[in-house]
Amino acid sequence: VARRITINNRRLFSEAKHYLAGGVSSPVRSFGYVGGDPVLIRSGKGAMVCDYDDNKYIDYVLSWGASILGHADPQVARDVSAAITRGTHFGTTNDIEVDLARTISEACGFVDKIRFVNSGTEAVMGAVRLARGYTGRDKIIKFENSYHGHADYLLAKSGSGLATLQIPASAGVPQEFINATIVARHGDLGAVENIFNKEKGSIAAVIIEPVGGNYGVTTHDKKYLQDLAAMTKKHDALLISDEVITGFRLHYGAAAQLFGVVPDLVCLGKIVGGGLPVGAYGGSSRIMDRLAPLGDVYQASTFSGNPIVMQSGLSTLKILKRSSGEYEKAAKRTQDLTLGLYKEASSRGLGVKLDYCGSMFSLRFKSRKFFARVHRSMLEQGIYLSPSEFEANFLSFSHTDEHVKKTITAASAALEKAKGG
Ligand SMILES: Cc1ncc(COP(=O)(O)O)c(C=O)c1O
Repeated sequence: VARRITINNRRLFSEAKHYLAGGVSSPVRSFGYVGGDPVLIRSGKGAMVCDYDDNKYIDYVLSWGASILGHADPQVARDVSAAITRGTHFGTTNDIEVDLARTISEACGFVDKIRFVNSGTEAVMGAVRLARGYTGRDKIIKFENSYHGHADYLLAKSGSGLATLQIPASAGVPQEFINATIVARHGDLGAVENIFNKEKGSIAAVIIEPVGGNYGVTTHDKKYLQDLAAMTKKHDALLISDEVITGFRLHYGAAAQLFGVVPDLVCLGKIVGGGLPVGAYGGSSRIMDRLAPLGDVYQASTFSGNPIVMQSGLSTLKILKRSSGEYEKAAKRTQDLTLGLYKEASSRGLGVKLDYCGSMFSLRFKSRKFFARVHRSMLEQGIYLSPSEFEANFLSFSHTDEHVKKTITAASAALEKAKGG
């Protein structure tokens, strides 16, 4: 296994720890789960990223799923640069924002109207408030191990960073703030029906990740999702599909559409900002028109609809639309990769749990320690995987068969080394 020089990375992270809490702006980036210094990325191109010591990696983190085209797509970069020269923000409606909203609405047939915000967290907060205002009810049902951003009332039994850090719930969240959040277990429709019956007339919404991306990649039966949608409707609650990860990730549109489910509201983020910070929520005019200024549900933000972000999202979606065949290719490569990894592990008698859906995958080993050893060894061979078994990995449209082959070869060496202790 090649030796990497990490002098600059180490120096930068050490300085970062002086000025940033934990040296990071978001916890999972600290590599707390796998130990050791995190890789700090200076630049990226296509499927590759480069750290501060010029080590190159095949990137499966992909900005936590946002960069579906790969890094620094030339067309997106050109369009964003041109947008910047016209000024960065004016705080009024702009043409690009309208174009992006139309583009999303055309792709997601059930969406008449959109509200843009700045992050996935804000998108979910807006959608939940809207659902509460619209139904005149307070309670929501979320599922165990799902992650819907860092709003107080959604951190109950959450996946993603909380699962990674093995924190059951965040400190600083008063009990009263989560009293209106009911956590259910996925797969048990009877239990959900019981909640509806017990809480008669007080459930505003059920929020789901149609494909879970925050506790490993978790898929659900199509019929289960459809039945859950029907049950939600029967009880006059709204179904919120949190597609911050899955929106435009599994196909050109919302994942719910693939499962024959029509959510009342959809939350988007990541990909629709093309690598810049974004969130969006949308649904039928009937519901969306309850938002201020037309309605009485208030939600506002200085930077939402920012033209640079909108341009990045619009250019990305335009490319995705005309290259929609790439979704299948990325999914096939993901399948090849996971099968390859599975063979490498099972031929050595190592237990591994590999899950994939479209171009998302996750892997778990018998212990955190073993995962950490494999993860470190993969890094040393130039493969950058998510630094937690709970976070998903992603392939972009820039990943090739060659990248997949190299990753499997590296995994073979990493598993051999980790097995030896
Ligand atoms: C399903 C889901 N919802 C919401 C969020 C929160 O999005 P953000 O981190 O942009 O606030 C995430 C983040 O990964 C997510 O995966």
